[in-house]
Amino acid sequence: MGKDRTWKDLARPFVRPLPQWSVVAVAPPQQAVIASLRWDGQSVDVTADHTVASLKPLTIASSLDAGPHPVLEYRDSATGRLLGVLQLTRAASVAADNTSLTLYHVATGEHRCLGWPRRPWNTWLQNRVMRKHRASNHLNMEPAVAQQLMIAYLCPRPVILVSVDAPGHRNIFPMDLIGPLQRSGLFSLALRSTNVSVPTMREVRRVALSGIPAAMKDVVYQLSAHHKQPLADWAELPFPVRATRASGIPAVAPALRIRELAIVHSQELGSHTFFLGRIVADEPLAEGAQLHHTAGFHQAWRRRQGAAFAET
Ligand SMILES: Cc1cc2nc3c(=O)[nH]c(=O)nc-3n(C[C@H](O)[C@H](O)[C@H](O)COP(=O)(O)O)c2cc1C
Repeated sequence: MGKDRTWKDLARPFVRPLPQWSVVAVAPPQQAVIASLRWDGQSVDVTADHTVASLKPLTIASSLDAGPHPVLEYRDSATGRLLGVLQLTRAASVAADNTSLTLYHVATGEHRCLGWPRRPWNTWLQNRVMRKHRASNHLNMEPAVAQQLMIAYLCPRPVILVSVDAPGHRNIFPMDLIGPLQRSGLFSLALRSTNVSVPTMREVRRVALSGIPAAMKDVVYQLSAHHKQPLADWAELPFPVRATRASGIPAVAPALRIRELAIVHSQELGSHTFFLGRIVADEPLAEGAQLHHTAGFHQAWRRRQGAAFAET
C-alpha cells in the first residue's frame, strides 16, 4: 500500500457508491464517446443526432427512424470498447418545420464501466441512496430509470445557459438536456414544464444559448434557482452580459460560444416540454474547456484507464 493510500481509501468502493454525476471540463464538441443506433444489422453514428427529450417517461429523440426496437450503444472512441447500451422502443414521431424526428422510450439499459461484482454492488448502493432521498428528489424518479439516464450521459453532455428576454419577463438558467439532431438540422431543449419561462419561450420563440467555460461551474449551479423564479434585472448577474447579434438577447459575455435559437415547435412529453428550433446565429467567442456532465461510473472507468476527464 502506497504511503498516500489509507485503508479507508481502499475500503471506500465497498461501502460508498460512486457519485451519480461527474462534472467535467471537455473541449466541445466531445469526441471521447461515440453513440450509435443499431437495428436490423445496421449501425449508424448518432453522436450528434440523439438527445434526451423527457425524463418521465425517459425519452430519447433522434432524426433517425430506427424501427420498433433499436439499441443505442455508447463506445469509447479511442478503443472501441462498449461502455453501455440502452434498449429502445419507438414511441412516436414528431413533424416540425418540414422534417421529422422519432421519439423512443427507454426499455432497459446496462453499462459496462465497472466489472463484476462492483457493477451490481455500486448500482445497489446508488439505488439505496436514491430511495432514501426520493421524497426530496424533484422528479421522484424510479432508481432503475435514473440508472438508464446515467447511461444516456455516457456521451458527456455540455452545459449551457439559456437566456429569455421579453417585455415583462427575463431569465437565464442552466440546461444540459439539449443538443443537435444533426440530420434534421434541428436543435432541441428538454425543459421541465414547471420551469417559470416555458410560457414565455412558447410565445416569443427566441432564446440565446451560451456555452459555459468549465471555470464558471459555481455560478451556473447558483443560476439553477432561475428554473423556478425569473430574473429581476440583467445587472444582478455576477458576470457581464452581451447582446446577441441577431435579436439583442442578453447572453453570457465570457461564454465560449453564443448561439441564437428560433423555436419552431414545442410539445409536452410527460414531465418535460420538448422545444425544437433552428440555430439562426452562431458567434464562436473563445477556445477552451466547456462544463459537461457525465455519469460517475464513466469517469471512474476513465480514471482506471489513466484517461480521466479534467474535473472542475
Ligand atoms: C447544470 C444544470 C443543468 C440543468 N439542465 C436542465 C435541463 O436541461 N432541463 C431541465 O428541465 N432542468 C435542468 N436543470 C434544472 C434541474 O434539473 C432542477 O430542476 C433545478 O436544479 C431545480 O431543482 P429542484 O426542482 O430539485 O429544486 C439543470 C440544472 C443544472 C444545475
